[in-house]
Amino acid sequence: MSIGNEWQQELIFPPAPEFTAQANAGDASIYATAADDYEAFWASWADRLEWFTPYNTVLEWNPPHAKWFLGGTLNVSYNCVDRHLSTHRRDKTAIVFEGEPGDTRSLTYAELSVEVNRFANVLKKLGINKGDRVTLYMPMTPEAAIAMLACTRVGAVHSVVFGGFSAESLRERSNDSGAKLIITADGYWRRGHIVPLKKTTDEAVAGCPTVENVIVLQRIGVDAGITMVEGRDHWWHDLVAGVSDECPAEPMDAEDPLFILYTSGSTGKPKGILHTTAGYLTGVTATTNYVFDIKDTDLYWCTADVGWITGHSYVVYGPLANGATVFMYEGSPDWGRTVGEGAGAAPGPNRARLWDIIERHKVTILYTAPTLIRSCMKWGEVYPQKHDISSLRLLGSVGEPINPEAWLWYHEFIGGKNCPIVDTWWQTETGAIMISPLPGITNTKPGSATKPFPGICAEIVDEQGNPVKDGQKGILVIRKPWPSMLRTLWGNDERYKQVYWSKFEGLYFPGDGAVRDDDGDFWLLGRVDDIMLVAGHNISTMEMESSLVEHAAVAEAAVIGKSHEIKGQAPVAFVIIREGYGPAAGDTEAADKLRAELKEFVAHKLGAICRPDDIILSAELPKTRSGKIMRRLLRDVAEGRVMGDTTTLADPAVVASLREKYSSDES
Ligand code: WT7
Repeated sequence: MSIGNEWQQELIFPPAPEFTAQANAGDASIYATAADDYEAFWASWADRLEWFTPYNTVLEWNPPHAKWFLGGTLNVSYNCVDRHLSTHRRDKTAIVFEGEPGDTRSLTYAELSVEVNRFANVLKKLGINKGDRVTLYMPMTPEAAIAMLACTRVGAVHSVVFGGFSAESLRERSNDSGAKLIITADGYWRRGHIVPLKKTTDEAVAGCPTVENVIVLQRIGVDAGITMVEGRDHWWHDLVAGVSDECPAEPMDAEDPLFILYTSGSTGKPKGILHTTAGYLTGVTATTNYVFDIKDTDLYWCTADVGWITGHSYVVYGPLANGATVFMYEGSPDWGRTVGEGAGAAPGPNRARLWDIIERHKVTILYTAPTLIRSCMKWGEVYPQKHDISSLRLLGSVGEPINPEAWLWYHEFIGGKNCPIVDTWWQTETGAIMISPLPGITNTKPGSATKPFPGICAEIVDEQGNPVKDGQKGILVIRKPWPSMLRTLWGNDERYKQVYWSKFEGLYFPGDGAVRDDDGDFWLLGRVDDIMLVAGHNISTMEMESSLVEHAAVAEAAVIGKSHEIKGQAPVAFVIIREGYGPAAGDTEAADKLRAELKEFVAHKLGAICRPDDIILSAELPKTRSGKIMRRLLRDVAEGRVMGDTTTLADPAVVASLREKYSSDES
C-alpha cells in the first residue's frame, strides 16, 4: 500500500470462512466472468426469471438509450408472487408487518397472491388499464406492496409519493405523470400522531384534473376524521369485497414502463425517473441475491419507506422476486411498544424499538441508513444491549457515505463483531445497487463501498473525463449500460440527456465524487452538484430556494447543506428580505417570528424533511462579479470555518457581516 494516501484505510475486515462457505456469492471468479462478458452475466440473471415469451436480444445500446431483453414478455407481479406458489414457498411467509401501536400481521405468498389478484381486479374495475399511471400515497403497511404489485399485474405504471411529502408535492407529481387514480389511506401512525394522508390528498386532488378516483385504505378508523367525496372516493375494503381473487397477469414487453419515481433535481422540478420491466427486475433480483445473501431461512428487514427507491427495490421487488420473507414496519425507530410492559402496553418513546423488533421477530438481515445508525450511536449502546439481537447475520447501509465511526459502532454493537457490513452505493436512477461488497467475497473497510457489482463498469475521471490515478479524487462515472438503469425522465428525454449524459460523452454521470484506493476500493465523497443529502434523502437546494422566494417577504434565497452530526447534511437558508417586510433593527422577537414562519412555509410546500434547520436574514448574499452566489462561502459561514478564498467576490465585506449575523441568528 502506498504511504500518504489519505483514503487508504488500514482497517480491513475479511469475510469469515463460515460465511463464505454458505454464501450465494462465494467465488470471486464471478467478477472476472462478468467483466469478460457483462451481457452474458446479466442474461444469466434474466434467465432466472419466469418469462411468458423468451427474449431474443440481450442489449440494444444507442447511447444514451438502452433496451434490455428485447422480444421477451413477462410480468413483475407474476415473478414476485405467482412463481412461488408452485414451490415450497407457497405457504412461506412473504411479509411480516408491525404497526406503531404494536399490531402485527403476516401474509404467506399464497395469501399475498389473493390480495394482489383482488386489488388488481379493483384497479381494472376503476378503469385502470395497461400504461395508465397510478399515484400511491401510502403508509408502510402490506397494502403498499399489494398496491404496487397489483399495478404491475395489470400493467399500470405506479408513482409512489413518500407519505411525508406535502399536498403540493403530491399534486405536482400526480399532474406530471397524469395519474388517473390516487391510492392512499385515512392516515398512519408516527410518534403517537396521525399523519393525515387523506386530508392532504384532498388538498392535492383539488388541483389534479387527471385524477378520477381515490382509493382509501382504512388504517386509523374513526379517529382519522376524514370525509369521503361521493363518486370519487372509495374505501379499499369495500372495493375488494366484491371482486374475484383471480386476475391474469398482463404480459408486458421487457421495455414496458414499470414505474416512475420522482427525485430532486438540482434545477427546477423534480425528475420523474422511469424504470422499465425486465431490466429493473433483473437488476434487483441479482443484487438482492448476492449482496444480501438472501436465503429461505432469513427474515430480512430493510427499514426504508416504500416512498423511496430503496423501498421499491429492497423492500418489495428484489426480496419478493427472491421468495424472501420481508419485514415491514410503520412509524419511527424511537417510538413504539414500551419495553417490559407487555404486548398491551401503549406505545411511547422507545429508543430500543428496532432492537425490540429484531429480538421478537428474529430478524437476520438489517438494511438501514447512516443517519439512523448515527442517531442510535448518540442514544448509546445501552438500547441494543437490552435486547438479544444475535439473530442478525448481515448488516447493510445506504443513502450517503457512512463515516468510519458509525461503521465501527454498527459492526460492534449491532453486528456483535460477526456480521459482514455491506455499504451499498446506488441511486434512484440506477434502480439497483451498483457499488457494494459481496459479503462472502469482499474484504470490507469502514467507510468504503468497495467494489462495483459484477457487470457494473464504474470508473473515476477528472473534469475532462480522463481516468484519474488511484488515490486521486475525481468524479464517479459508469461506462457501460446496466439492466436496471433509468430509461429516461418521464416526458422529458432532453433533460435526461442533459442531466446524466452531457457532462461526459458516452459516460453516465451520477453526480458523486469518489476516489479509489490501491486495492481498487471505491470511497464515495458526496455530491458534486447542488443536491443535499439530508438524513439520506436527496433534496435540491434549488427547489428549496424557489419555494422560499414564493413567500411575499423573500426577495432572494440561497440554500446550502451544512454538515450535521446525525443527518449528514442539514439545510440552511440565507434569505434577503424585501424592503418593508423585514423586522425593525433590534426587534429579535419579530425576526424569530419571521424565521419560524419561513421554516413552516418551506415545510408546508415541500414536506417536513425540507424544513430548514437555520434561517439567516440578511441584507446581501456573497456573489461573484458575474452574479453567481458563492455557496462555498455560505457553507464556510454556516459551518463556522475560516473564510475560504474571497478574491472573486464582488463585495468581500458581505461575508464578514454574514458571519456576524449567523452567530446571532442561529437558533
Ligand atoms: C445519492 C442517491 C440509493 C438509495 C438511497 C438514496 C448518495 C447513496 C450511498 C453510499 C455514499 C451514497 C449518493 C447518491 N448515496 N448511497 N452507500 N455511499 N453515498 O437514493 O435519493 O437517489 O440518492 O445518495 O450521493 O448519488 P437517492
